[in-house]
Amino acid sequence: MIKDYPDNIQQAVKYLKAGKLVAFPTETVYGLGAHARQPEAITKIFLAKQRPFTHPLIVHLAHLDQLAAWAIDIPAEAYLLANTYWPGPLTLVLKKHPAVSTLLTGGQDTIGLRIPAHPLALALLQALGEGIAAPSANRFCRLSPTTAAAVFEELGKQVDYILAGDACQVGIESTIVDLSGQRPAILRPGMITAQQLETILEKPLATASDHAPRVAGMHPVHYAPETPLLLIPAAEISTFLENLTNIELPIAVLAQHTPSRQDVAGPADSARRALVQNPAIHWFYMAATPQEYAHDLYCTLRELDKQGFKKILVVAPPHDPAWAGIHDRLQKAASRA
Ligand code: TXA
Ligand code: MG
Repeated sequence: MIKDYPDNIQQAVKYLKAGKLVAFPTETVYGLGAHARQPEAITKIFLAKQRPFTHPLIVHLAHLDQLAAWAIDIPAEAYLLANTYWPGPLTLVLKKHPAVSTLLTGGQDTIGLRIPAHPLALALLQALGEGIAAPSANRFCRLSPTTAAAVFEELGKQVDYILAGDACQVGIESTIVDLSGQRPAILRPGMITAQQLETILEKPLATASDHAPRVAGMHPVHYAPETPLLLIPAAEISTFLENLTNIELPIAVLAQHTPSRQDVAGPADSARRALVQNPAIHWFYMAATPQEYAHDLYCTLRELDKQGFKKILVVAPPHDPAWAGIHDRLQKAASRA
């Protein structure tokens, strides 16, 4: 069967079968993959990423009919969501099948599963005919890579093979929904929103306080650039910039537009000009839609991280539910500063 696949897929399958690490594109971010039935290969993922063994991995599958080999007591809700969103940027946490190694699950009795929507990821999964365990292909607590070049920057020779594709379309990691408890709950927001999930499930999701995740997988510092990142409301940007001392410059400002009249103190036009024309304040403009913003977020932060800024100041995007995944990542990136 494997003969029908292009050379790069065949090569990647050979590496996976031999217990080696293969990075591959998904629609969200690049994954660092290992054969999900080979404990030694899975161990290599944790070592390459310097990730604690208590942080569970997501297993990627090609077909819905593989689900029963990985999970048990699968609720009808899992099929409702899978039929709507798979292949796509949604991870379901279910009770694990007894045959699943606890190495994958951080010692827990649940497992995260998803079918990714990227054609190369799907071809790889189909050609392997088995699950692929894959976290994002970055070092622990760093930004997830959304290009093949960023994977190499993050992990270099720690990856045995990089299946290179285009930049990832979604740009931030999948929405994670826990279906192993009493009520469905979001463990990690993403571009599939709570409202969309509630519409399909026809019931409200449990809130974070109803549902204490059993795992610390949600590490507070995560997805962070090396440069300290600050997230501030648009209304505070001008005061913040005006009070900067020379030692804090140059600074990058990630905004969706130049400061508006109501965002600046003092005579509006001259104050705005002073901020926008200051050569030590570098403005970078992000898109207006959450889809484009998410698509560009990590690669923009990765680029800014190389430019020697003292800080990256991010003007908070809208607080609309469609932006929940983006806010989550920005807050995590900011928690390092
Ligand atoms: O979009 C994505 O999900 C990407 C691509 C490569 O698929 N993967 C990804 O994996 O973001 P990773 O390992 O970087 O993040 C997986 C998250 C972790 O925060 C982990 O704690 C959580 O999923 N997770 C995995 N299995 C879990 C489980 N059984 N219970 C709770 N959380 C789980
Ligand atoms: Mg990650």
